[in-house]
Amino acid sequence: MTSHFIALEDWSDAELRGLVTLAQSLKAEHFQGGNTPILAGKTLALVFEKPSLRTRVSYEIGMRQLGGNGLSLSPQEIGLGKRETVADISRVLSGYVDGIMARVFDHNTLLELAKYGSIPVINGLSDSHHPSQAIADALTLVEQLGDPAGKTLTYVGDGNNVARSLLIYAAVMGVNVRIAAPEGYHLTEDEMDLISERAERNGASFTPFIDPIEAVTGADVVYTDVWTSMGQEEETAQRLKVFPPYQLNLELMHHANPGSIIMHCLPAHRGEEITDAAADSQQSVLFPQAHNRLHAQKAVLAHLLGGVALT
Ligand code: CP
Repeated sequence: MTSHFIALEDWSDAELRGLVTLAQSLKAEHFQGGNTPILAGKTLALVFEKPSLRTRVSYEIGMRQLGGNGLSLSPQEIGLGKRETVADISRVLSGYVDGIMARVFDHNTLLELAKYGSIPVINGLSDSHHPSQAIADALTLVEQLGDPAGKTLTYVGDGNNVARSLLIYAAVMGVNVRIAAPEGYHLTEDEMDLISERAERNGASFTPFIDPIEAVTGADVVYTDVWTSMGQEEETAQRLKVFPPYQLNLELMHHANPGSIIMHCLPAHRGEEITDAAADSQQSVLFPQAHNRLHAQKAVLAHLLGGVALT
């Protein structure tokens, strides 16, 4: 059976931790002067239904650094689900390339690509999950906190795709995870149960809050994301009324632990979910976090396309 990186729920705790260990080793190798061409002769198709800076550049450059190639295909060009069915596109690409990385609206599109093709499918963001961001976040937590187990991370804002994947990955790393979101914008009960299970299995806890100050008190990491995700633009006006108390600003950070760090997956809507002062503060790790997309995703590529074992 082909393995895919579509949702973290499909991966065991040991595998997810193994990916972070592999990412650390690939990053060290890169900065020590060379990358082993694990993916020589391999090609990854990159399909984007939504805009991207980090995902597109980091997957394309990641393939190149490992000796392979990335081939970008716009949905207009290939007519994803319009000119041709997703199933047929996946069957065809399976004969040309060695993997598909796709950013899509509907998560089911990824499941269909995986069902009908015979090559690994990697989720570069869907409406419900963002595992490619979460593995970079896990690597960043390890770099910034040392062993992150026992530390506390609070996600403040919309219970979206980034929150869902981040909280699972951090829980697997033994981090106590919290979310502060307004009523109606939390994760579902099932999703919260899943995060709780992963946290408890790894000696940690999961706690949802409505009050952002309560949620941030005692946190070592405070993380936020945009209030209106791609595809929700018609909700912008309503969300701008609801979310201001959840802004990540220096006043909110006063409630976090001394030495706490600020994370954001970017792009940021500065002045909305995060202030300039917070994003550009000494506590901010936004850019090392963004740069880790490259190193973390290389672990996914090396494992799925290059057969590198996880330890
Ligand atoms: N964080 C993230 O996925 O960035 P892009 O949308 O630029 O790819």
